[in-house]
Amino acid sequence: MAGLAGALAGKRVLVCVGAGGVGKTSVAAALGLARALEGGKVLVCTIDPARRLATALGLDALGNAETRVPDQAFAAAGLHPRGQLFAMMLDVKRTWDDLVTRHAPTAERRDRILRNRLYQQMSAALAGSQEYMATEKLYELATDRDYDLIVLDTPPTAHALDFLDAPDRILDFLGDDQAPLLLSPARGARLGFRLAQLGGSLVVKTLARFTGAELLHDLGDFLASFHGMYEGFKARAAAVHDLLARPTTGFVLVASASERAVAEARSLHDRLASEGMPIAGVVANRVTASLWPAGRPRPGEAELAAALGEAEGGLAPGLALAIDENERMAAFDAAAVAPLLAAAPHAVVPRLPGDVHDLAGLAALAERLRG
Ligand SMILES: Nc1ncnc2c1ncn2[C@@H]1O[C@H](COP(=O)(O)OP(=O)(O)OP(=O)(O)O)[C@@H](O)[C@H]1O
Ligand SMILES: [Mg+2]
Repeated sequence: MAGLAGALAGKRVLVCVGAGGVGKTSVAAALGLARALEGGKVLVCTIDPARRLATALGLDALGNAETRVPDQAFAAAGLHPRGQLFAMMLDVKRTWDDLVTRHAPTAERRDRILRNRLYQQMSAALAGSQEYMATEKLYELATDRDYDLIVLDTPPTAHALDFLDAPDRILDFLGDDQAPLLLSPARGARLGFRLAQLGGSLVVKTLARFTGAELLHDLGDFLASFHGMYEGFKARAAAVHDLLARPTTGFVLVASASERAVAEARSLHDRLASEGMPIAGVVANRVTASLWPAGRPRPGEAELAAALGEAEGGLAPGLALAIDENERMAAFDAAAVAPLLAAAPHAVVPRLPGDVHDLAGLAALAERLRG
C-alpha cells in the first residue's frame, strides 16, 4: 500500500478516529501542522487536548475560538511554516446552543430550550453528545470558512463507533412522537426504561439530580419546545453525513499496537467502508521500533562487554537483556498492527522519546507520519 502522505494530499477534511488514548489528538494536530508547514491554511479542531498541548497551540482556557498559532511560537520551535495553522477546542454545550439557536422558529422558543434545566444537563451528559457536536461543528466550519484543510479530532470514547451512530440515536429520541406519552404517570416505569436505553449511566446520573415532579415538568417542556425543530435537525444531520462521505474528506484510523486498539480500528474500518465513507489511511502509533538491523545476529553479553571495554559486572548483561526485550516487543507490535496496515495507506510511528506536547514534538510526529 502507498504511503499515507500521498493519500492525504488532496483532502480538505480529515477526521481522526480510534480507541481511547491511542494518539488521535496528537495525530490530528501533527497532520494539521504538516499541511501548514507546506503552505496550507489549516484548522485543527481538538477535543480535550492535554493542557500542555493546548498551551503549545496557543489555546487558553477559553480555547473554543479559532486561534492562530503565532509565528513566534513556530520560530521558537525552529519551524517556519509557509502556511497558517489555527487551532480550537470543541465546546459541546456551545455547539448545542448554536444548533438550537439556528433551528428555533422564534426567540421565545429558543430561550425556553436554552433555559430548560434538563437541556442544560443533557447537552453535556448525553452519551454521544460530544461526537454529535464534533461533526456538527465540523460542518459549520467546513461550510462557513475558507480553510484549505480542517482536521477534526474525535472524543476519547470507549466505543469509537458511537461517532457514526450518536446523531441518529439522539435525534430518534428527541423526535420520537411517543415521547410525550412517556410523561403520563402510569408510564413512569417505561420512562425509566427508555432513558436507560438512551444513554446509560450518564443520563441516569443526570436525571437523578432532579426530583420526580421537576424531572417530568422539565422533560415535558423540553420535548414540547423541541417539537417542530426536529425536521430541521434531521436535515442538518443528513448534510453533515454527506460532508463526511465526500471524496475530499478522509478518515484517518489511529491505533496503538494493543489488541483492543487494533480491533477497534478494524471494526471502524469495516463499518466506514460499509457505509461508503472515505478511509484515507491508517496510523499505527507508538509502535515499538526495532533497533537492530534485520538479519544481523544480536550481540551476546561477552561481545557487548568487549565493545564497551568492560570487565565483568558492567553494563553488558543488562544491555543484552534490554536489546533482546526491545526486539521481542518490536516483533510483537509489528505482528499486532500488520492486519491493519494491509487495509489502507498507512504510516507506522514509533514511540517517541517523551510526550507529544509542543510544536517540536508535533513536528517530529508529522515527520514520522510522512513516512
Ligand atoms: N508516537 C508517540 N510517541 C510517544 N508519545 C505519544 C505518541 N503519540 C501520542 N503520544 C502521547 O500519548 C498520550 C495520548 O495521546 P493523545 O492524547 O493524542 O491520545 P488520544 O487518542 O487523543 O486520547 P483520548 O482518547 O484520551 O482523547 C499523550 O500524552 C501523547 O503525548
Ligand atoms: Mg484526545
